[in-house]
Amino acid sequence: MKKMTAIILAAGKGTRMKSDVPKVLHKILGKSAICYILDSLKGAGIKDIVTVVGYGKELLADVVDKQTKIIIQKKLLGSGDAVKSAGKALRGYSGDVLIICGDTPLVGSRTLKEIAARHASSGASMTILTVKLKDPTGYGRILRSSDGKILKIIEEENARLYEEKINEVNVGTYCFNTKDLFEALKEVGQNNKKKEFFLTDTIEILNKKGKKLESVLLENPEDMTGINTRRDLAGVTGVLKNRILDELMLSGVTIEDPASTVIYGGVRIGRDTVICPNTVIESDVEIGAHCRIGPFARIRPDVKIGDGAEVGNFVELVRTEVGSGAKIKHHTYLGDTKVGRNVNIGAGTITANFDGKNKNRTVIEDGAFIGIGARLVAPVRIGRGAIIGAGAVVLKNHNVPKAAVAVGVPARIIRKKK
Ligand code: UD1
Ligand code: CA
Repeated sequence: MKKMTAIILAAGKGTRMKSDVPKVLHKILGKSAICYILDSLKGAGIKDIVTVVGYGKELLADVVDKQTKIIIQKKLLGSGDAVKSAGKALRGYSGDVLIICGDTPLVGSRTLKEIAARHASSGASMTILTVKLKDPTGYGRILRSSDGKILKIIEEENARLYEEKINEVNVGTYCFNTKDLFEALKEVGQNNKKKEFFLTDTIEILNKKGKKLESVLLENPEDMTGINTRRDLAGVTGVLKNRILDELMLSGVTIEDPASTVIYGGVRIGRDTVICPNTVIESDVEIGAHCRIGPFARIRPDVKIGDGAEVGNFVELVRTEVGSGAKIKHHTYLGDTKVGRNVNIGAGTITANFDGKNKNRTVIEDGAFIGIGARLVAPVRIGRGAIIGAGAVVLKNHNVPKAAVAVGVPARIIRKKK
C-alpha cells in the first residue's frame, strides 16, 4: 500500500458555536473533538497528520502537541484553499492523502481503514466517502452518471438547479492521489458569493481528465454527524455516550439508568458491577467486578477500585485507589488517597489533600475503620486495622499506628488495639 498522510481541515470559523474557543477543541466526554479524529486516524494506522487551523494554533498545540503538524490558513478562502495551505507541509511527498473534517468526530477508524483500502486496491485517483440521507439539505450532493460513475459534487447553493432529488451526499472524507489533487486544485475557481475555493470542485475536474473516481458508502448516517452548534455537540456526546454504555452492558455491567449515567471512553468495569443512577465516571478509571457504584457518585480521573467495593451516594474520588471489599458509602471526598482492602469509610469523611501549594497523599491501610465525619489532613497514614473516632481531625504527619484508636480534635491516640 502507498504511504498515507492525513489532512484535517479545521480552519472554519465555527461561527454558530458562539465560542471563544476553536470548534475542534470543544470537549466531548472529557476529550477534545479533534482527539477523536486523531485517535481514529491512529487506529487506521495513519501516523503522519497535518491539521489546518485558522486561529488558536497555540491552544491547539497545547492539546495535540506532537501528534500532528499544525498549519495556519491565513485567509479562510474555503476547503480547497485549506488543502492548498496544507501543501506546504507535503513538499516532495509522493504518497496519498486522506482528507477529513475536524468537526466530524464519529467517523471511526473502521471507516477510515475501509476508504484507504478501497482507494489502494482500486488504484483510483480519488475515493470519496458518501452517505444516503433522508434529508440531504446542506450537504454536497453526489451526481452520478446513469451507469453509476461519479461525475461531480453539487454544493447546496447549486443543488436547487437540479430537479431530481439526490439523497447521496459527501461526508467530507476523501483519499486522493496527491499529485492529481494539487494539479486539480490549481484549476479550481472562486465559487460562490463568499469567493471560496471548493475542494469538492476537484472531483469534476478529475472526472473530465478521465481519472478514476471511487466511493465508499457509509452504512450508518449517524457516523457523519457534524458539529456546527452546541446542540450538535450535545447530540454527538449523546451518541458516543450510548455507545460506551452499550459496550459496558454487553460486557456484563449493569447500568440501572443509562439516561442519567455518564461514563467517559476507555473506562474499564468488571462483570456484575452495578452502576446506579446519576453516576459520572471520568477518564482513566478502572473498576473491578461485583462493585456497587452510586447513585450520585462522581469518579474523577485516575481512580482504581478493587473487586466487591462499594462507592455510594455523594462520594467523589480523584487520583485514588480503593482496595477490594472497601466501603465508602455516603458523602465523602477522597483525593490522592490509597484505601486498603476491607476499609470502612464513615459517612462524611473528607481528606484534606491540598495544602494551598501541593497535593499530598493519604494512606488508609487494610481493615481500618474511619468514623463518620472524620477529617484526614494529608500527608498522613492510618495504620492497618486502626480506628478513627467520629468527627476526629487527624493532623498532617500525625500517623496513626496499626490497630490504634484515635479520637478528638486534633486526634490523639487513646489506645492500641491488640
Ligand atoms: C463541506 C463540503 C460538502 C460536504 C460537507 C460535509 C465543501 C465545499 N463542501 O461543506 O460537500 O457535504 O462539508 O460536512 O468542502 N475549512 C477550512 N478552511 C476554510 C473553509 C473550511 O479549513 O476556509 C474546513 C472547515 O473547518 C470544515 C471543512 O473545511 O472542517 C468543510 O468546510 P465547511 O465550511 O464546513 O463546508 P460545508 O459547507 O460543511
Ligand atoms: Ca461543515
